[in-house]
Amino acid sequence: MLEISGLHAGYGRVPVLRGIDLSVAPGEIVLVLGPNGAGKSTLLRSIGGFIKPTAGTVRLDGKDVTGLAPEEITRRGLRLVLDGHRVFPELSVRDNIRLGAAFRGGRPDFEAMAGPALEMFPILRQKLHDPARDLSGGQQQMLALAQAFVAQPRVLLCDEPSLGIAQMLIPPILDFLKRWAALGTAVVIVEQQIDSALAVAVQAIYLGLDEEGTP
Ligand SMILES: Nc1ncnc2c1ncn2[C@@H]1O[C@H](COP(=O)(O)OP(=O)(O)O)[C@@H](O)[C@H]1O
Ligand SMILES: [Mg+2]
Repeated sequence: MLEISGLHAGYGRVPVLRGIDLSVAPGEIVLVLGPNGAGKSTLLRSIGGFIKPTAGTVRLDGKDVTGLAPEEITRRGLRLVLDGHRVFPELSVRDNIRLGAAFRGGRPDFEAMAGPALEMFPILRQKLHDPARDLSGGQQQMLALAQAFVAQPRVLLCDEPSLGIAQMLIPPILDFLKRWAALGTAVVIVEQQIDSALAVAVQAIYLGLDEEGTP
């Protein structure tokens, strides 16, 4: 589903990733671990097309997508959920979720597409008509995931889903990702700490820093 080989990427002339190999099958969760600054977000950005890799390849369903524009990579079924639970604060919870399906054809039925996510995150259903700014950080993370869910990606990249959210909301979020993967989605989760995320993953890679703090 997602195959990365020998991936190099960085900013300007500063290299960050030097030869990353990673392969994620449908239904599988791979965890990318490492300290702050090690290049975890850079990896997700280069898979998603936001940074052009300087070497190596990214394949989706066997097709080379290295260096394609983010919109094109999204169109081919990859979705990146950024860290920091980003949502549209002025829009209602419902409209935030609907945006995830905006590029899908036709007029998909809201219940049919969002139902499984709302079942896992009942608080979102209770707050469907409230503006997203009224949600807590953890609830906004749930919303960001629900929005990605209705896009029905085949590959989901999720950057630090547990960052800055209440401890008690982390298990339901990981549980949701686990069930989502079980539907046949290839999932990559980035975390700084091993914690509970390791329990849901089948594979993990570690990006480190040297003594000088260089990735
Ligand atoms: N937009 C950017 N421009 C230049 N350097 C960046 C940029 N974003 C990240 N970096 C650098 O790239 C390295 C890896 O960052 P990042 O991928 O964000 O790490 P992580 O997500 O693991 O915390 C760090 O040294 C960081 O300072
Ligand atoms: Mg990061």
